[in-house]
Amino acid sequence: MNIASVVDEVVLRGLLDGLLQGPLRRMDHLEQALFRIRYELYLPDVLRPLAKLYGNRPDFVAHLGNLLGIVAQAYASRPEELRLLDLRRASEPDWFQQPGMIGYVCYVDRFAETLASVKDKIPYLKELGVTYLHLMPLLQPRPGPNDGGYAVMDYRQVNPLYGTMDDLSELATALRHEGISLCVDLVCNHTAKEHEWARKAAAGDPVYQGYYHMFPDRALPDQYEMTLPEVFPDFAPGNFTYYDSFQRWVWTTFNEYQWDLNYTNPAVLAGMLDIMLFLANQGVEILRLDAVAFMWKRLRTDCQNQPEAHAILQAFRALTRIAAPGLLFKAEAIVSPDKLLPYLGLGEATNKECEIAYHNSFMVLLWSSLAERRVVLMTHALQNMPDTPVSCAWLTYVRCHDDIGWAVRDEDAAAIGLSGFLHRAFLSDFYSGRFPGAFARGVTFQHNPKTGDRRISGTLASLAGLQAALEQHNWHEADLAARRILLLHAMILAFNGIPLIYMGDELALLNDNSYLDNPSLADDNRWIHRPRMDWRKAGQRHDGETVTARIFNETCKMIQARKHTFSLHAEARCYAVWTHNEQVFGLIRAGARGRLLVLANFTEHRQMVLRHRIHDMGFKGELIDRLEGETLDSWSDLHLEPYQALWLEQVPEV
Ligand code: GLC
Repeated sequence: MNIASVVDEVVLRGLLDGLLQGPLRRMDHLEQALFRIRYELYLPDVLRPLAKLYGNRPDFVAHLGNLLGIVAQAYASRPEELRLLDLRRASEPDWFQQPGMIGYVCYVDRFAETLASVKDKIPYLKELGVTYLHLMPLLQPRPGPNDGGYAVMDYRQVNPLYGTMDDLSELATALRHEGISLCVDLVCNHTAKEHEWARKAAAGDPVYQGYYHMFPDRALPDQYEMTLPEVFPDFAPGNFTYYDSFQRWVWTTFNEYQWDLNYTNPAVLAGMLDIMLFLANQGVEILRLDAVAFMWKRLRTDCQNQPEAHAILQAFRALTRIAAPGLLFKAEAIVSPDKLLPYLGLGEATNKECEIAYHNSFMVLLWSSLAERRVVLMTHALQNMPDTPVSCAWLTYVRCHDDIGWAVRDEDAAAIGLSGFLHRAFLSDFYSGRFPGAFARGVTFQHNPKTGDRRISGTLASLAGLQAALEQHNWHEADLAARRILLLHAMILAFNGIPLIYMGDELALLNDNSYLDNPSLADDNRWIHRPRMDWRKAGQRHDGETVTARIFNETCKMIQARKHTFSLHAEARCYAVWTHNEQVFGLIRAGARGRLLVLANFTEHRQMVLRHRIHDMGFKGELIDRLEGETLDSWSDLHLEPYQALWLEQVPEV
């Protein structure tokens, strides 16, 4: 793109000079030169999306100047250790794609009470092999119900129950010194209605009313509602809320107290950019950008995944790169596979949007295969997903703090002879334990009678059958449940990306009903799978043959195996293959670092894959299973035990 077509080059040079003489004037020559290099490098990437968003505004240059001023301020105040980190990341740009990366996700209070005491748990995290720690929302939430912290009233303060901003910086440093990168949520689609901007808007200040989507009557909201889905049809139906005190309808996609920000206003983008860089300068290395699909609204659409939502992310990325290039963006876009890939940056935005994003489809397909004891849908659906850009990585997970929504596409189901609607209904029945013989013990979340959707809450262990087995004192079933848990972890460890272990799943923690006693949590059953860490159980993790010890130790072993399997680098291609056995999933990872064949038995019965098929996939002679370290002979058919996974590499001939 020709920069001059957006802003005159003389103006751009003038802006740079202004920064060098302003916020950057006290910096030494080398630091200024570094800024200049990045400024010149990233400016086209800044201008391209900004022109899409605000190019028609007469005050475009003023807003651009404001954004660059924020960037320069943040650069000038970035602590030295973080500047060095930026240089380090630039010298090793694939750092987050390496097989050594292992993520762990937890709530500060549920894991360790406070930020300061998270530090004491670093040895535990290291024992697991963790290199990336996502602490669930920890910025100051509104008082009362706050959607698990996703209703932030002050982005510059930490939730006082967890500690202070200084505690956060100290923790980030301590983690970094142990090789663990800190990831924090940034809720950029909405603020709490108690946020300063929202309070001013509610008090009638027209400037701040322009930070949100507000309407004097139902005319526009009614038009939007015609094509808008509902995220929480149960406890927050509709997408707008009326406030008598200031006589406006406010856009509230999620709960009433979460007000959607209006990014048609460049001041909102500037405000959020400032917050991002503030957090980056505290030592946060990865920002989990919440609900990014919803950031732009357009009539007659579902107001998700709009091109402008991508432009906003691209602008954020290019701007933050100038001040804090080590910072990584993680997209939380729980959308259909075809809508998901653009969050990793496609076309002219390749490598210029988010580096990592949740692979929601893979997660759903794993559960679908487990319930069905068939891998046809998973194989077909994955084969129909486009390739991942080589400089990105997925976040692979078996479940998170949210419910599981059955994002199975009708087209994928139909292609293999299933009805998408009925299959989704089956999965809801199965995982809520209603289906005859189902091993799962989940609960239904947000039944939507209009669409028939029934999402599911539950911990990994409860969904995989351990809870039912323990209730029935059925040790055979408990063994199968343990195998399922390990199978799912083996899958996310082998797929392309950063595997995330959700706190407690490494110890097979079960559903926790204690949220029902807390009135501000009771109507949201996602809390059933957000238990408190059971440190007593964790203490038994080395005690012989308990399920806890088995899950923990086997998980650690698989993590170590992954760290030493170079073919699992995220750069390697990742594609599903037919094994000619509908019960055994096949996945190939292939790249410059080698080729690996994953075979996974999704049933409780022994399964076989014919040797011809293994040969056809290009694996011959002696094979080594990276999970167990055992060698296998591909001249015989391969057998897999119930729920067994194999990570096979060909042993090089000497
Ligand atoms: C994200 C979070 C979810 C929250 C929503 C609104 O989807 O994962 O927990 O309810 O955003 O912030």
